[in-house]
Amino acid sequence: PLGIKKISHTTIMRGWRMEIWLDTANLNHIKTAVDWGVISGVTTNPTLVAREGFSMPFKEAVKTICGLVKGPVSAEVVSLDVDGMVKEARELADLALNVVVKIPITKEGLIAIHNLASTGVKTNCTLIFSPNQALLAAVAGATYVSPFVGRIDDVGNRGMEVVRDIAQIFKIHKIKAKQIAASMRHPMHIIAAAKAGADVITLPFHVIELMIKHPLTDIGITRFIDDWKKAKISFG
Ligand code: G3P
Repeated sequence: PLGIKKISHTTIMRGWRMEIWLDTANLNHIKTAVDWGVISGVTTNPTLVAREGFSMPFKEAVKTICGLVKGPVSAEVVSLDVDGMVKEARELADLALNVVVKIPITKEGLIAIHNLASTGVKTNCTLIFSPNQALLAAVAGATYVSPFVGRIDDVGNRGMEVVRDIAQIFKIHKIKAKQIAASMRHPMHIIAAAKAGADVITLPFHVIELMIKHPLTDIGITRFIDDWKKAKISFG
């Protein structure tokens, strides 16, 4: 409409210290969450991609996702040797400017991250389960490190402690790498990760839906609309 100036999402987010990304390869879910205005990036992994049963090749799917969201899109390599990881990483990085290549924390992964960092390819070091792994990944040159909180909880340890430790170590030592709290399973994980100092929280779609919902909101809306109808007030 006339007189309304468009403001970009980047402008809205300026100065914010935490971002919310979507942890999925589902195109409809990505489109929906972008429309909600709540996500500024996407993370995927081989399991999430396999779940979608794409008829197109993986690289094409990554390119499509990169066109749906303006911010970073993490796509994972599937080779385990250095040359294979670097080759796949370069192919993924060539797809779009917002690709961030996910590489697992292994000895080979560290070499690949280090090599890619020297040529400006952004990486997200994944399958992090300890602050030590995060520290090494960051020193090797990872742009992001992704601790898997839910999977740490699954084996009886405190996933959020890892997020808190990483945040503290990165802050004390002015480490530039950003931390993505991943493997988030429920809304309380989000509150805890935000308080623990995660730079990014990546969420499954259903967790965002759970965050939106509150029974008192539903009751409140029903009551407001009922009262409005009963009063027969004209809107304008
Ligand atoms: O994207 C990686 C991570 O979020 C996986 O989560 O629930 O499979 O442990 P989950």
